Amino acid sequence: MSEKATITLDGQTYEFPIVEGTEGEKAIDISSLRAETGYITLDFGYKNTGATTSSITFLDGEAGILHYRGYPIEQLAEQASFLEVAYLLLNGELPNAKQLQEFEGNIRYHSLVHEDMKRFFEFYPSNAHPMGILAAMVNSFSTFYPKSQDPNRSIKDVERTIFRLIAKMPTLAAISYKNNLGHPYMYPNNRLGYVENFIHMMFGLPTEDYEVDPVVADALNKLLILHADHEQNCSASTVRIVGSSQANLYSSISAGIAALWGPLHGGANQEVIEMLEAIRNDGSDLEKWVNKAKDKNDPFRLFGFGHRVYKNFDPRARIIKKSCDDILKKMGINDPVLDIAKQLEEIALRDDYFIERKLYPNVDFYSGIIYRAIGIPTRMFTVMFALGRLPGWIAQWKEMVENKEPIGRPRQIYTGATKRDYVPVKDRK
Ligand code: CMC
Repeated sequence: MSEKATITLDGQTYEFPIVEGTEGEKAIDISSLRAETGYITLDFGYKNTGATTSSITFLDGEAGILHYRGYPIEQLAEQASFLEVAYLLLNGELPNAKQLQEFEGNIRYHSLVHEDMKRFFEFYPSNAHPMGILAAMVNSFSTFYPKSQDPNRSIKDVERTIFRLIAKMPTLAAISYKNNLGHPYMYPNNRLGYVENFIHMMFGLPTEDYEVDPVVADALNKLLILHADHEQNCSASTVRIVGSSQANLYSSISAGIAALWGPLHGGANQEVIEMLEAIRNDGSDLEKWVNKAKDKNDPFRLFGFGHRVYKNFDPRARIIKKSCDDILKKMGINDPVLDIAKQLEEIALRDDYFIERKLYPNVDFYSGIIYRAIGIPTRMFTVMFALGRLPGWIAQWKEMVENKEPIGRPRQIYTGATKRDYVPVKDRK
């Protein structure tokens, strides 16, 4: 592109190239800014800063568009399987039948977790949060598979690490749930599909035959796809930045899990249900809670509302809201919390505070109601988000490595004390 951006500093004008993406997004490439001018840019929360160019996910927050590798999220959620989408994110193209079969086979092959790792679970407190356990266990994989530590890893080793991660995360998640209940762990059943196997490990018992309900498997498949990637969000950026130091992939993903856990990010799905329940227990006075969310002196926020990039609607929330109705109907469940959620949404969407700030329900607003219907406990909701987001994190990490991106290292403007001399303790006032 021949267009340039000019910036005038201290009376001198500098030119910077404009970069345009395949969907028409534009950026000013300021890579040479500091070297040329001595200035840096300052952008708290990176609200205007592109950290990379990427060909994985396209998102238009104003138009409510989300594509993985060019495919609209609506089509993938309706028609694809989660592992197909994982393959797409990792490899750039949808797999043909043979490629998909091979990919599924590789994942299946690695679904067991090392027996020694099971012993770790004995030492977590019984009420340990499953996200804390997941982050620690995924990081622990790096100690069981030391080849993954080598920064000059072979393609085969990297592939194996990717298969292991995708294969073992559901097993770990299910073990942590069983541990919480004090129930025996279920081994993976490799005759089952990926999603079905997870459901079997979560809800099956060695004492009885367990039939996976296809309605539940369908719902979960859709939710995992909807969470599979979301370009440079907080956790994906964390994975990329940790990986940029050439830390191993397990540790990079573990860092992503930690970032996701926060209530402003993936942890919001747990907060939403707890909030809806608190509203219900408080007598369902919705106006009162909306007013609390608007009150700047009250730390309460309407969880599941607002998004850094979506300023019109979150396409994932639309799909989830609809499937929430469908699934509850199919399962014959009447959840009063769903009615509260719908009424809350209606009130907020009519309110000037939310309209002016372009705050709409996000992916986390209705997902918890589906998880609940399926039988997943509230504290596991963010683990479900992590299971879905895993292929996205890996694809982001892979792209960062393949692009040979430099170590991530932002700058700052120092605002602390200027130089002063050390005073020994005895002389200090
Ligand atoms: N309830 C009440 N007010 C809100 C909310 C909310 N949920 N979200 C934003 N605002 C207000 C905020 O107080 C600010 O008002 P003002 O301009 O008067 O100071 C304005 O809207 C802009 O908000 P912001 O916090 O500056 O926006 P952000 O882009 O930094 O934050 C967000 C985005 C998602 C962290 C925020 O909307 C939020 O905290 N939402 C609730 C948590 C949540 O649902 N998170 C899940 C996000 S979707 C899953 C994922 O991908 O992570």
